[in-house]
Amino acid sequence: MKKNVLITGGAGFIGRWVVKAFLDDTPHRVYVLDDFSNGLRENLAEFANEPRLAEVKKGSIRQRKMVGGLVAKIKPDICLHLAAQIVVQDSIDDPVRTFESDVDGTFYLLEACRAAGTKFVFMSTCMVYDLSKPEGAIDETHPVLPRSPYAGAKLAGENMTISYYHAYGMPTAVLRPFNTYGPHQKATGEGGVVSIFLTRQIRGEDLLIYGTGHQTRDLLYVEDCADFLLRASTSGKVWGRTLNAATGSDITINKLARTVVDSAPDKTGSKIRRIKHIHPQSEIMKLCGDSSAAQKVLGWRPRVDIEDGLGRTRKWLEKLIAEKNSKWL
Ligand SMILES: NC(=O)c1ccc[n+]([C@@H]2O[C@H](COP(=O)([O-])OP(=O)(O)OC[C@H]3O[C@@H](n4cnc5c(N)ncnc54)[C@H](O)[C@@H]3O)[C@@H](O)[C@H]2O)c1
Repeated sequence: MKKNVLITGGAGFIGRWVVKAFLDDTPHRVYVLDDFSNGLRENLAEFANEPRLAEVKKGSIRQRKMVGGLVAKIKPDICLHLAAQIVVQDSIDDPVRTFESDVDGTFYLLEACRAAGTKFVFMSTCMVYDLSKPEGAIDETHPVLPRSPYAGAKLAGENMTISYYHAYGMPTAVLRPFNTYGPHQKATGEGGVVSIFLTRQIRGEDLLIYGTGHQTRDLLYVEDCADFLLRASTSGKVWGRTLNAATGSDITINKLARTVVDSAPDKTGSKIRRIKHIHPQSEIMKLCGDSSAAQKVLGWRPRVDIEDGLGRTRKWLEKLIAEKNSKWL
C-alpha cells in the first residue's frame, strides 16, 4: 500500500540514498525536510521527474511550529530522522548550534510524530561508543561515552527516542551505522575521509592524516547503509531496539591512505603526511562494528566490499573533477 514517508536530512549524503532506496524499492510517497545547511538540491536532481518524491521542503527541525504543521499535514507512516549537524569539530566550536538542532529539533519531531501516530527511526552513529578493546567488534551492548557534543547530542536523541517507545508505546528505533562513505559525500570538512583522500589523490595533492593514523574505521558503503535504514524502518521488527550496521572489519587510516594511493590507476605523485590532530580528545582510536543483531532481525548484511566501494566512489569523484563540478568538493 502506498504510504507517506518523511525523511529529514534527505538532501544530505546518506539521506539522498535513503530517498533513492524508498523510491526504487517501495511504492511510498517520499517527503524531505532539510534546511540545506549541508545538503544540496543537486543530491536529489536525479529524482526531479519522480512524482513520488512529493515535496522537498526547505526548513529547520528547530522550527517547532513548522515541524508540527508539516507532520500533521503529511501524516507520515514513518519518519526517518537523519537531519543533524554532523561535523565533530563544529560541535566542539559551537555546541549551542549542535544541541539546538540535534536535541531540540529531535524532540520537536518526536512530539509531532507522536501526535500524528508516525513511527520514528532515529539515525544515531557509532561515535556514541566508548573505546573498544584492541580485539573484537562492538555490539549494541558496548558501553557508550560521548566524547564530543556531536556524540552527546546523538545520545540525547537516542534516549528521547527510546523513552517514547516505553512511555507511549510509540514505534521508535535507534540505528547506529558505522562510518559511511560513497558517492555524494562531500570531500570537504573532516567527515568523509574516503572522499577527501580520493579527491586529493586524483588531484595529485598529499593525503593528510590527523595524528598517528593508527585510528581505525569500519567503513560502510552508503547503499548498504541506505538498505539497512529501509529494511529497519519497514520491517516492523525493530521497535524499541537499537541496532548497529557495520562490515565487521576495520582499517587503519594509514592503511586506507596507502590503499587509495596504491590502487590509483594513474599515479599522481601524492604523498601521505601525518599532521597534528585538530581534536585528539574527541578521537576514537578503534571503531569496528558487530552487526550480527541486524543480520538476525532484518536479514541485513553489507554487500559492497571496500575495494568495490572505493572504486565506485573514485569513479564518481573523477567525473566531478573532470567536469570541474565543485558542488561536493
Ligand atoms: N556519514 C557517516 O559516516 C554517518 C555515520 C553514522 C551516522 N550518520 C548520521 O547520518 C545522518 C546523515 O549524515 P550525512 O553524513 O549524510 O550528513 P549530511 O550533512 O550530508 O546530512 C545531514 C543533512 O541534514 C540537514 N540538516 C542539518 N541540520 C538540519 C536542521 N536543523 N534542520 C533540517 N535539516 C538539517 C543538512 O542540510 C544535511 O542535508 C546524520 O544524522 C549523521 O549523524 C552519519
